[in-house]
Amino acid sequence: MESDVKKKRGRRRLVARVGELEHGTTKKFHLKCQGNTIEALLVSYEGHLYAYVNRCRHISLSMDWVDNHFFTEDRRYLICANHGATYEPTTGECVWGPCFGAFLQGVPLKIAGGEIFAFCPED
Ligand code: FES
Repeated sequence: MESDVKKKRGRRRLVARVGELEHGTTKKFHLKCQGNTIEALLVSYEGHLYAYVNRCRHISLSMDWVDNHFFTEDRRYLICANHGATYEPTTGECVWGPCFGAFLQGVPLKIAGGEIFAFCPED
């Protein structure tokens, strides 16, 4: 049973080290999940880390036109470059724009030994 869960979730992937990202910055990474490659972003916001699949909830497109550019200028929100959907960095909730109320798909993280690992998201 446990091996089924591990197989489904995929292996962990080292995506960054603790302290690598300053507030209001992101780092893109890829995960292999069930045979598919998923692009995701690690988000640093007010001393905490979050991760989301890089797929807007308005239309299933990558949100960054300029590579790895996700934050608004004031570093308060994540924003989709396509049509301006604006997301809360701590929850992934769309708080303004065409997908208001929807959530980015979260990517589980685990911090161990000063390293940050990501796991495949649930379906
Ligand atoms: S695709 Fe992101 S706002 Fe339209």
